Amino acid sequence: MNYTIALIRGDGIGPEIVGSAVRVLEKVGQKFGHTFTFRDYLMGGCAIDACGTPLPEETVQGCLASDSVLLGAVGGPKWDKNPAALRPEKGLLGIRAALGLYTNLRPAKLYPAFAEECPLRADIVAKGFDLLIVRELTGGIYFGERGRREGKFGPEAYDTEAYSVMEIERIARVAFETAKKRGGKLVSIDKANVLETSRLWRETMHRIGEEYPEVALSDMLVDNAAMQLVRCPSQFDVVVTSNMFGDILSDEASQITGSIGLLPSASLGDGTRGLYEPIHGSAPDIAGQDKANPIATILSAAMMLRYSFGLAAEADAIEAAVDRVLAAGLRTADILGTSNAKPLGCTAMTDAILAVL
Ligand code: IPM
Ligand code: MG
Repeated sequence: MNYTIALIRGDGIGPEIVGSAVRVLEKVGQKFGHTFTFRDYLMGGCAIDACGTPLPEETVQGCLASDSVLLGAVGGPKWDKNPAALRPEKGLLGIRAALGLYTNLRPAKLYPAFAEECPLRADIVAKGFDLLIVRELTGGIYFGERGRREGKFGPEAYDTEAYSVMEIERIARVAFETAKKRGGKLVSIDKANVLETSRLWRETMHRIGEEYPEVALSDMLVDNAAMQLVRCPSQFDVVVTSNMFGDILSDEASQITGSIGLLPSASLGDGTRGLYEPIHGSAPDIAGQDKANPIATILSAAMMLRYSFGLAAEADAIEAAVDRVLAAGLRTADILGTSNAKPLGCTAMTDAILAVL
């Protein structure tokens, strides 16, 4: 098969890690008989510099014309003081909305080789954990009405959270389908003791849940969820939650794996096109020094093969290669932890993965 992949290399270490994933995809293509055609597009800080906007129209059109999108990372101190419309993050929110990517899948699992790096006590993670956060990505407070106005106490700012039944239903279906294929356990996280959007969320989750008797659905308030994640992460299988709660909890979940440099993510809509990116950021402090860890981006490319193209064997091959390299003790600087291995650079780590692929 022939697939066209839009590359958004972005800022900081983005170009290096996307370059690594491209090399891995090319190797997989040769091995399994697929061709991947790559097209480059600008987004984030580099797009602000080159085109005066974080999300040029050409990028949106290019992504819409591609079978899928691979993103490195955007942002950096250079653009941190820019006004809202000229911030790199605006490009990310814009592309999610433009491509209709309302589902964000963020897996967080404890690699046995990294148990020592996990900041939680050994007895808490003795059973390991392997959870998947299904985050709603194009609604809620991120996209609600906002502004400045004159309030009761003088000038004020406001952001609003709104969720339609339709938006909750469609993310609910994704979450139930996902839970069905995994451990059959779904925890829906909300703040239904305070927020009306959460009460609608909870009501809708349970109504859709009636279509999925094979999935055990339970509710959890978000403050409790933040606590349970560090108290007993193994209790979770699939978690579904709103845009902002998902943003916060997915950072917490990634941190307790002790290996944020390894975590991929997928953003999906109704079609097969998705946007795949590492969970970590653009690490401007090490950009251009061949020190970045390419693994999360390589695993994001594997997720693309699995979820967008239905190429499970190909995705398995990449994941197995990464597992073997890690099991052999190879490390980049960010995942060195207590290991006394000599850290590999981005290129050397990619070479090692290619060698076992
Ligand atoms: C994420 C990021 C983004 C978000 C920012 C950069 C807009 O934190 O993907 O989690 O909040 O969605
Ligand atoms: Mg975030």
